[in-house]
Amino acid sequence: MNYLCPICKNLLFSESSLYRCERGHCFDVAKEGYVNLLPVQKKKKKDPGDNAEMVLAREQFLSKGYFDPLIEKICETLSKGENLLDIGCGTGYYDRKIKEKTAVKACGIDISRHAVRLAAKRDRAGQYAVASAFDLPFADESFDVLLNVFAPKAEEEYLRVLKRGGKLVEVVPGKEHLLEIKQKLYESVRLNDERSAFTRFSSAESVRVKFFKEIASGEDLTELLTMTPYRYKTPQDALKSISSAVPFPVTFDFILRIHTK
Ligand SMILES: C[S@@+](CC[C@H](N)C(=O)[O-])C[C@H]1O[C@@H](n2cnc3c(N)ncnc32)[C@H](O)[C@@H]1O
Ligand SMILES: [Zn+2]
Repeated sequence: MNYLCPICKNLLFSESSLYRCERGHCFDVAKEGYVNLLPVQKKKKKDPGDNAEMVLAREQFLSKGYFDPLIEKICETLSKGENLLDIGCGTGYYDRKIKEKTAVKACGIDISRHAVRLAAKRDRAGQYAVASAFDLPFADESFDVLLNVFAPKAEEEYLRVLKRGGKLVEVVPGKEHLLEIKQKLYESVRLNDERSAFTRFSSAESVRVKFFKEIASGEDLTELLTMTPYRYKTPQDALKSISSAVPFPVTFDFILRIHTK
């Protein structure tokens, strides 16, 4: 998929190791093969998005297959030949799986350069860029499918880049997602709010994807906690006690929603 210049919105042309627009704005392609399309003047923080530790933990945890039943369900919603943009793609794990299992063309953006670097490293033929969900570097009506798994909701931008009749596949945590972990860490547990933040698509249908898995090792549990906000919100001793309580049965609960434009 062609990129637009994040500064002037003209088309970017690919040269040997950079992208350039007709007004001369240039963006280098990193050695891993991704491009950073988040200009400094548009950054609100120096190093936005998930940090290096969270990104590594996410990749290690996902690569053990814990979320694969969810990815199977996502793949069932896709059709041959569709082009898909994964917004807030993290380490690109879902995109690699989607490309392995379907004939869908997937590319991804994330605001975290740590995530995008890892995604590009793991998928040298893939197309990954550092960019914000709120300012997507793509022309109007570029994609058949947008994928949004636990990532920011920028409804106006999503409606802009999606083709008419295209679909937004949204995944949010179901009410009991990681319930046992919360019960172990907190005195009172609040169930997740399953409502969608999207209101302007023409229709939506949703399914619950719920399964139970035992977290096999303390290492896996630490990775799971590190990729979520729990690690940072929880006292060290509570984290230690939960990490030694393995194998630890956990509910994975997701709402998979398909919104049509
Ligand atoms: C909970 S993670 C989910 C990552 C991936 N979708 C997955 O499920 O493995 C949320 C991701 O959104 C990214 N993110 C946060 N704010 C963003 C923004 N404004 N634009 C694009 N990505 C953003 C983070 O860097 C992080 O990788
Ligand atoms: Zn430009």
